[in-house]
Amino acid sequence: MNNNPIGVFDSGLGGISVLNTCLTILPNEHYIYYGDSLHAPYGTKPKEDVLARCIEICDYFIQKNAKAIVVACNTATSVAITELRKRYSIPIIGMEPALKVAAHNKENKNIIVMATPLTLKEKKFASLMANYANNSTILKMPCPEFVEIVEHGMQDVQSRVNKQIDVYKDLIQDRQIDSIVLGCTHFLFVKQEIENYFNHNVQMIDGNEGTARQLKHLLEIDGNLGNHKQKVEIFNSDESKLPLSYQLVDA
Ligand code: SIN
Repeated sequence: MNNNPIGVFDSGLGGISVLNTCLTILPNEHYIYYGDSLHAPYGTKPKEDVLARCIEICDYFIQKNAKAIVVACNTATSVAITELRKRYSIPIIGMEPALKVAAHNKENKNIIVMATPLTLKEKKFASLMANYANNSTILKMPCPEFVEIVEHGMQDVQSRVNKQIDVYKDLIQDRQIDSIVLGCTHFLFVKQEIENYFNHNVQMIDGNEGTARQLKHLLEIDGNLGNHKQKVEIFNSDESKLPLSYQLVDA
């Protein structure tokens, strides 16, 4: 048993969706969530800047004696996970667009991957896509506006979601879209509106459960599961986001 905390971080509020899944799968743990809203979005920044932010946040978790770190951000995972694993000796668990799950279903001929521009540009995604592009058509859809909606207030959500997806009207108009992979943890908070756009006629897939299960697996094999009353501490580089953070955890 090990009751040291688990660090969970994201460029802002999106990773709270991952924290929520971790709380369900591993309830008897102490979590420290760090949202970096002051520096969001990561998905349109140079890679070096994102890596520097990730190192600063992970150093903070190490000072807090974290026993594992969850990179609850697809962009940060794509850019920084290899370097973070070299740098720290505790388990570092990342996010991956759940393309494997989508492509596994033979019925899924047309799959959209929604993510940030940086995630979709990175080598990590190119190799993932090469593995699954044989049986399906995979359409890449950068949706930076969704991050803005979640970070800067959920007003007019449906019309802003529609406007973002409409950018890709030509790409999707003659196709029956079978599934949508949410490759950014922020997008979970606009999932309902995305489904509405597609008239609920698509399978929505995200990687949150896979990440939480991997965290559990790694803690289990190292004998590091916790056994105390659940505890969640939330920090944000932009303190004005704290009330919303707590609201999203309670949602
Ligand atoms: C962003 O900050 O642009 C979104 C981060 C993510 O990919 O989850």
